Amino acid sequence: MIRFAIVGCGHIANKHIEAINQANGAELIALCDTNPVRLEQLRETTGTAVYADMREMLASEPAIDVICICTPSGLHAGLAAAAAEAGKHIVIEKPLSLTIEDADLITAAAEANGIKAAVVHPNRYRPAIQKLKQALESEAFGKLSHVNATVRWNRGQAYYDQAAWRGTKAMDGGVLMNQAIHSLDLLQWLFGPVVQLKSMVDTRIRNIEAEDVAVATLRFASGALGVVEASTTIYEKNLEESISVFGEDGYAVIGGVTANLVKQWKSARMAQESIDALIAEVDADPNGVSGHQCIIEDMIAAIRHNRKPAVTVEDGKQAVQLVIDFVEDGSLV
Ligand SMILES: NC(=O)c1ccc[n+]([C@@H]2O[C@H](COP(=O)([O-])OP(=O)(O)OC[C@H]3O[C@@H](n4cnc5c(N)ncnc54)[C@H](O)[C@@H]3O)[C@@H](O)[C@H]2O)c1
Repeated sequence: MIRFAIVGCGHIANKHIEAINQANGAELIALCDTNPVRLEQLRETTGTAVYADMREMLASEPAIDVICICTPSGLHAGLAAAAAEAGKHIVIEKPLSLTIEDADLITAAAEANGIKAAVVHPNRYRPAIQKLKQALESEAFGKLSHVNATVRWNRGQAYYDQAAWRGTKAMDGGVLMNQAIHSLDLLQWLFGPVVQLKSMVDTRIRNIEAEDVAVATLRFASGALGVVEASTTIYEKNLEESISVFGEDGYAVIGGVTANLVKQWKSARMAQESIDALIAEVDADPNGVSGHQCIIEDMIAAIRHNRKPAVTVEDGKQAVQLVIDFVEDGSLV
């Protein structure tokens, strides 16, 4: 068994707990959170050893193999580096870090200590996104003219007010670093690196320090163009998350509220039966196995086969860099 611990046991840690419990070959042996009330809840509901401090946990639980870092984003780097220095493999929630210096700190600590480091970009594992990735690898849409990523979501003021770190530049960032980073990661994973970007970002409606709306045009290294629209200001509730791709021989639109449904798919380079089959497969189970479980299982395989995890620190840094460029280019001067 590969033995896991979690540091930072708020909302997203629940998904890690579930993923570790579901994954083959994983065992959860310790939890760490600085909030004593949360810690007590966890002790009661999970029956797992709990700690208020990561260093204390490291000293008391030498059997830990992997630490999942699920704290507020601005704390990822310091904790990830300390875990790496203790010789533990690390699974770091998105965003990897809020700065490039912090991303490099994690990379250096991982390399110096010979540990595996993975970043949680779970949307890569959605069945519709996997189908799109496979189709792009076989050039199913021909030469691409342009792509689009849209995040039209609602995060009301109450969401930002639930914890002091939310919406701050030092600990969280805005819609780009927190929500749309999933789409920005997908854009570069699916379509390659972005080489040019023109953006505008603003804080229009929420009372937060970072941006709540952002738009940009992009150029990819392939020459394809891109458009991004992201906001947490949509009235009342989440409306849409989508990725669209348009090529000389076809197009695809993966949409719905969480980019998990095939809304459109045409390709002159694919048999219609195989398009119908892939749409039916996605419709039958649009969410598939949880992306968090896939990432935990991939970490186990990476350790056992001594290979890199599927989503690397370099991938995480590339997404963070795109967010930083987006905010820098688009901020009011
Ligand atoms: N992959 C995804 O889809 C996804 C979704 C939501 C959040 N996230 C990421 O997960 C992270 C946490 O988000 P959340 O919504 O769970 O936040 P949260 O506020 O609900 O939980 C964070 C927890 O960390 C604890 N904490 C703070 N400092 C700590 C420290 N030094 N040591 C141990 N514990 C500490 C807090 O007490 C809190 O319980 C963020 O980086 C966020 O971007 C990822």
